[in-house]
Amino acid sequence: MQAYSKGFARVYNMRWSGFTRQAAPLILDFYAATPIGKKNKSVLDLCCGVGLLAVHFLENGYQVIGLDLSEEMLSYARENARQYIESGQARFIQGDASDFTLDERFGLVVSTYDSLNHLENEQALLRCFQCVYAVSDGYFIFDLNTRRGLRRWNSIQVDDSDEDVLIINRGIYDGQSDKAWIKISGFLRLPDGLYERFDETAFNTMFELEKVRDALLGVGWKDVYFARIQDLKTPLDEPEKEGRAFIVASK
Ligand SMILES: C[S@@+](CC[C@H](N)C(=O)[O-])C[C@H]1O[C@@H](n2cnc3c(N)ncnc32)[C@H](O)[C@@H]1O
Repeated sequence: MQAYSKGFARVYNMRWSGFTRQAAPLILDFYAATPIGKKNKSVLDLCCGVGLLAVHFLENGYQVIGLDLSEEMLSYARENARQYIESGQARFIQGDASDFTLDERFGLVVSTYDSLNHLENEQALLRCFQCVYAVSDGYFIFDLNTRRGLRRWNSIQVDDSDEDVLIINRGIYDGQSDKAWIKISGFLRLPDGLYERFDETAFNTMFELEKVRDALLGVGWKDVYFARIQDLKTPLDEPEKEGRAFIVASK
């Protein structure tokens, strides 16, 4: 289980917004154009992190529940979506994506930025699909890093582009096995001008996309395909050739 820690949650909230900010409007546009999306405005943001995708849907009038394992990430989500929590439009709860139940049902369950690669193994992913199926009335959209994408992790990157934060990423992936590891460490400037050190070690499990599709169909989803975020309507023939694939499942 990989709940992001306090220091890393702070850095994530400051610096890791680009991917999700870009993906959120594309997912919303796709969903809003579907028959169920025209009438059902309830969303579960699974592994919601600091609530970036949730806030985009909230700004557009959706009712959102965000679920994440990390209380540290959730506290930023609650801060970022405070006005919507106060108005009763949003709720953020701590939970495990592969072991949760909720009373609510959702037109859209969504999980972005390779969050489901954070699950331990195929059994955990299958349990996640079963939990999602039980609360879904329509679509389940999520993305996964592919083996090809994880090969890019095998590197060292230093981001010292501004004075507020120094980030060092050390990724290891042998290109064959089912786990890629990354250690992210660095320093973050606090309001008093001193720097605080953070360290986070995380893994991504590599899931073969054909097995993912079979698992979703086995759980009961009727239609399952892979797509690029830029065009969620069009199925891809060879998703393993992508660094990241979006999975679109519907009931
Ligand atoms: C890469 S972040 C993505 C966050 C958010 N979806 C986004 O797009 O910015 C992965 C998130 O998954 C959460 N997470 C990891 N394992 C989880 C689990 N088993 N159940 C729920 N959340 C989990 C982490 O705490 C973290 O917030």
